[in-house]
Amino acid sequence: MRLDKFLCDMQIGTRSQVKEAIRKSLVSVNGVPVKSPDIKIDEKKDIVTYAGEEIAYQNLYYYMLHKPAGVITATRDHHEPTVMDLLTDVCGKDLAPVGRLDKDTEGLLLITNDGELTHKLLSPRKHVAKTYYVECSGVLTAEKQRLLENGVDIGDRDLTCPASVHMISQSDHSYVMELTITEGRFHQVKRMVEAVGGSVTYLKRLSMGTLSLDDGLAKGAYRPLTAKEISDLKQSTKRASAR
Ligand code: URA
Repeated sequence: MRLDKFLCDMQIGTRSQVKEAIRKSLVSVNGVPVKSPDIKIDEKKDIVTYAGEEIAYQNLYYYMLHKPAGVITATRDHHEPTVMDLLTDVCGKDLAPVGRLDKDTEGLLLITNDGELTHKLLSPRKHVAKTYYVECSGVLTAEKQRLLENGVDIGDRDLTCPASVHMISQSDHSYVMELTITEGRFHQVKRMVEAVGGSVTYLKRLSMGTLSLDDGLAKGAYRPLTAKEISDLKQSTKRASAR
């Protein structure tokens, strides 16, 4: 495998960033600094270091995307742009979004080929918390807020699970809140707001489990997760348990 591809696959940076790192002599192979991004390495045997740290071989990849409105959450589509079209310089086969955000919803979307983590994050038994910034039309009385928090009928067999509401602002005809839910039902946030007589005018996901949307990521931009973000997410899905 080419050295620059290996470093990109190990999420040291994009192709252009790793080429730059190699030119700056930040990369060594078996203890020898290298200057050429296209040398071939045996990724399973050679010891590659970046800035003095050994880079262990792995083939699972994790990206945080700031999903903009107007793209659909799918791996491919014949008619509409998908979130995968935004990931122009990534590594890894079989990358897919974890869960679904509506076409008009913005915010945090995790994209990975780690099927085990995806399964755990989406498992209804794990109750992974997802926090949304929600702008709504309508009025949320204390009674309606309690309904959202305790469980509301959105037309499914069961009421929604307990949720938490943090009110940010309120006027006579609209309100803005942060809503944390631990399920992932179809159009759940919009249906919850509708069930208490309002309507969502803007929706953005801020976090999923321990992973929060990076403030520095512009809409449409993405970056690899850090090693800590990956290990925190994995740890949290071990702890999150059936209720
Ligand atoms: N709930 C919704 O209604 N839409 C989303 O995109 C995510 C959660």
